[in-house]
Amino acid sequence: MGDAFTVRPLVMADAPARLHEQVVEVIQAAHRRSDGTLPERFLSPALFDQVYDGVYSVIRDRARFLVALADGAVIGVGGYRPAWCSGHGWELAYGAVLPAWQGIGVGMALLRARLDAIAQAGSTGDFIIARSGRPSTFIRLGFRQVSVSDPLLLVGTVGMSMPAAQPVEVRASA
Ligand SMILES: CC(C)(COP(=O)(O)OP(=O)(O)OC[C@H]1O[C@@H](n2cnc3c(N)ncnc32)[C@H](O)[C@@H]1OP(=O)(O)O)[C@@H](O)C(=O)NCCC(=O)NCCS
Repeated sequence: MGDAFTVRPLVMADAPARLHEQVVEVIQAAHRRSDGTLPERFLSPALFDQVYDGVYSVIRDRARFLVALADGAVIGVGGYRPAWCSGHGWELAYGAVLPAWQGIGVGMALLRARLDAIAQAGSTGDFIIARSGRPSTFIRLGFRQVSVSDPLLLVGTVGMSMPAAQPVEVRASA
């Protein structure tokens, strides 16, 4: 297995290759607990609906998914969507990389690609909300902790200054 991967949006034309199903499988593989169970939001029907609706729905606030591909297969995914509470905000969710591909830059490439996509779709000053068990990653990119009562809740801003990306073997980005 080479380490080269590409990052791009998941689109309707990916359906025949069953990439939507692969997205669900990657999210589940990344979030499966040691006892084999999954948090409820990652169970198959609800999660597939999220992914499917993100690509097929005409609802303005739909989720959008970026995928990392290696040899035509999904190895990582990251979702984002406009915030529901405001027209000036965005949310990040569903970041996941297959265990065999973790630790070589796929997750960070997907995170940066989502922030780039939000910057293109949004406006300078829009807020970006994330909640992560690894807040240091987001803080390194310019996010701030929102509250001492929930140190995992983070907010960034479209247009915030971020450190330059380290070179990884990304052949194309969304
Ligand atoms: C978290 C995860 C997406 C990171 O993907 P990855 O490909 O292993 O990350 P990279 O190789 O780009 O790692 C670079 C760094 O950014 C972090 N990172 C990258 N993407 C991240 C993301 N979306 N959220 C949080 N941290 C992330 C990595 O933990 C690593 O931090 P470190 O340098 O302090 O060790 C991946 O390990 C995973 O799927 N984990 C299980 C599910 C999970 O925790 N999802 C995140 C929910 S917020």
